[in-house]
Amino acid sequence: MATDTGDPLPRFPAGFLWGVSTSAHQIEGAAELRGPSVWDVFTAEPGRVKDGSTAAVACDHYHRYPEDVALLAGLGVNAYRFSVSWPRVASPGGLDFYDRLVDELCAAGVRPVPTLFHWDLPAGLDWLERDTAARFADHVTAVADRLGDRVTKWITLNEPAEHTLLGHALGAHAPGRRLLFDALPVAHHQLLAHGLAVRTLRAAGARDIGIANSHGPTWPASADPDDVAAAGFYDTLLNRLFAEPVLLGAYPDGLGELMPGDVAADLRVIAEPLDWYGVNYYAPTRVGAPLGTRSEFGGLAIPAELPFSIREIEGRALTDFGWPVVPEGLTELLCGFRDRYGDRLPPIVITENGCSYEGLDDQERIAYLDAHLRALHAALEAGVDVRGYFVWSLLDNFEWAEGYARRFGLVHVDHDTLERTPKASYRWFRDVLRAQG
Ligand code: FCB
Repeated sequence: MATDTGDPLPRFPAGFLWGVSTSAHQIEGAAELRGPSVWDVFTAEPGRVKDGSTAAVACDHYHRYPEDVALLAGLGVNAYRFSVSWPRVASPGGLDFYDRLVDELCAAGVRPVPTLFHWDLPAGLDWLERDTAARFADHVTAVADRLGDRVTKWITLNEPAEHTLLGHALGAHAPGRRLLFDALPVAHHQLLAHGLAVRTLRAAGARDIGIANSHGPTWPASADPDDVAAAGFYDTLLNRLFAEPVLLGAYPDGLGELMPGDVAADLRVIAEPLDWYGVNYYAPTRVGAPLGTRSEFGGLAIPAELPFSIREIEGRALTDFGWPVVPEGLTELLCGFRDRYGDRLPPIVITENGCSYEGLDDQERIAYLDAHLRALHAALEAGVDVRGYFVWSLLDNFEWAEGYARRFGLVHVDHDTLERTPKASYRWFRDVLRAQG
């Protein structure tokens, strides 16, 4: 794999946003102090989470947030991306927690960047229902009313693609449905919720709004036309389905015909102009024609009946999660977006990038982040307007269906004692931020 060359990183522009990301369900715990989410229901079902764990305690960030904000301050980030839990906001006193957190961040000189939905839908709500989008707008109103005097930068949704695909099409995440293409309304209703959230935030005076979508280059397994077509289809599902309604006000390749409701009217809401566009990048995907059997990617089974199969990217180091390490995929992705969307693409912020590795002396993570920052800088030099970079994640946390088995943190968390210990990568990133000034 690419190794940290030891050379200082190139300089990023003045005013660049440097941060780390987390999400509520993955770190907060204190599950008894909020209503249940679809993730609480899902993790209670035997066999759903690999190590049988739940996020009832997670990192106990709910109680230990002052310590975690001190870790952010010690790291020297100027921004922190976290999420507000919708079921907590809807519970008595729930907003008080975010009020305290935002005050603590502001006092530490770290800019709060909340995500308004990161997969923890209140139990009983359902993205197959259109009304969930309207309910989300009410949630956004409540959060903006309470935090909008101190929060100026907002993220509507995290990865509606994964929430649709893993949660509703393949059943690997909450709410555990296996609807395959019948999950498409879930994508539409989340996109509608995004557009309604932008309108709600604007009405509340917000001027700095983005979304965090997951994207990656899609590589055909070969030049065979069937592989190329399958890869094109996968690219439409992962990248274009979630970018184009937002950026262009249109669904790609006739997919709009499969969506529920008055799609043309909804697209006008979905395409509310954004101030910036968030990209979560982990790795490219190599895709080929269906194999007639199920294929696998990072522990995820891709059913045989889908019109594509996921193939191994050969010759690359893998993270503990089995994801290939391909830093230049980030340059390719960003330049590709610039070429595809031209002046319809607002400035980009990398809202997640990171890797799972064990150990406190995590040299692989340092090499991964170093190489990805160089790849990001290459995109800047190629003329892509990138304004920020957030590492996933501050803390080792509850990694969804993988439980606590995957460690993405710059800070190690002992899941028995909840003790935090900064890893080598924490000190490395701190030094990078110091050098960047
Ligand atoms: C992303 C999620 C985030 C985390 C990382 C590893 O897809 O947004 O919550 O699980 O992957």
